[in-house]
Amino acid sequence: MTDAPSFVYRFEKASKADAPPLLLLHGTGGDENDLLQLGAMISPGSALLSPRGRVLEHGMPRFFRRLAEGVFDEQDVRKRALELGAFVEDARRRHGIAAPVAVGFSNGANIAAALLLLKPEALAGAVLLRAMVPLSEPPRARLDGKPVLILSGQADPIVPAGNAARLSAMLSDAGANVVHKILPAGHQLSQADVRLARDWIASVDARVV
Ligand code: MLT
Repeated sequence: MTDAPSFVYRFEKASKADAPPLLLLHGTGGDENDLLQLGAMISPGSALLSPRGRVLEHGMPRFFRRLAEGVFDEQDVRKRALELGAFVEDARRRHGIAAPVAVGFSNGANIAAALLLLKPEALAGAVLLRAMVPLSEPPRARLDGKPVLILSGQADPIVPAGNAARLSAMLSDAGANVVHKILPAGHQLSQADVRLARDWIASVDARVV
């Protein structure tokens, strides 16, 4: 009885009952395999739900359409975020998992931020790696203390510092409990991202499950 959109995805069962499930969202050109290792490193024992973006840009999977680098087709962002929300709801039922913490990189972080703003109940929280503002006119979301970690790169050529700061303010204003850190890095992830994400997930664990 479901009309949830079909995503190619991988699912790995939890091996630790109290570890929060993770929704892994890859960057442009990635797929459902990309972040499994990262997920296992930052939250050992968590169930991992990892879909592949359904939009193709020159053959590269993404989670929504863009008009140019950093310029989004916002109508598509809205539509795709809600599709992802429906997928998560359906996958939760199918696999018997709680609302996941999204862990998104780049394009995956941007769709996670959009999902938080458009359908907050879909996620228990989010780790947004190299994220930017996904919607110029976001809805009035009620994030009610949802934990969000934003990790930005000081020398990121894709995400201007001011943009990441705006995202952080937007989510805080909507009531999320945001921790925003700026790392001495570019757009690519570093060891510091892994360490900070792991420590943060361990610290919010008790509150999200
Ligand atoms: C996006 O399109 O979501 C951002 O520009 C990040 C990227 O995928 O390069």
